[in-house]
Amino acid sequence: MFSIAIDGPAGAGKSSVAKEAAKALGFVYVDTGALYRAVALYMLRHGITPSDAEAVEAALPAVTVDLRYEPDGQHVLLCGEDVSDAIRMPEVSTAASDCSAVPAVRKFLFSLQTGMAERYDVLMDGRDIGTVVLPNAQVKIFLTASAEERARRRCRQLKEKGVEADYEKTLREIRERDEQDMNRETAPLKPAEDSVLLDTSELDFRGSVEKLLEIVRERM
Ligand code: C5P
Repeated sequence: MFSIAIDGPAGAGKSSVAKEAAKALGFVYVDTGALYRAVALYMLRHGITPSDAEAVEAALPAVTVDLRYEPDGQHVLLCGEDVSDAIRMPEVSTAASDCSAVPAVRKFLFSLQTGMAERYDVLMDGRDIGTVVLPNAQVKIFLTASAEERARRRCRQLKEKGVEADYEKTLREIRERDEQDMNRETAPLKPAEDSVLLDTSELDFRGSVEKLLEIVRERM
């Protein structure tokens, strides 16, 4: 099996670029952020504070998270319910970042991710794929963009979905999430030593996909 690990901060366009690149390569695209979001949604729905590590860990045995692939791509199931849309709400982003700092949550989602890579050629995107989940991935890319550019893109995305977005607030949330993801003790966001840096600040969507494919094809 061939694995491509793509890590990077929130809103760098990782998911859309990775999804498109996976399609071009005929690989299964695994968006691991969606798994953390599903766990976070469970906590929010059950009145559990996502930053309360003990309470989150205690709730985990009742949680099931699964992936299903349909013609339009990856769907995430939380206790059997398709929550692919619900996990995109902004309040779930912060909750996901909180939950993802809980070691038991990372452990809980680990085998689901490695299992996918054992069965399929995958292009997996997340924060710790090249460093922790798939340390032997054949290609590792750290995909990033400036915080301002990421905030602009996230606002545009939300607006397209009809959700009102405030640029300053989005930028603040992105910076907070970067801070939290980079400084947590378990599996912090950082480029794997053997990763290739891809900065998309100056690239449009097509350009980012092309660049990513170029990096992958050089290593296949
Ligand atoms: O990628 P996305 O923004 O959907 O991820 C939501 C949150 O899940 C991130 O802020 C990060 O804290 C966490 N995450 C993680 N490890 C991953 C993927 C996501 O910690 N592999």
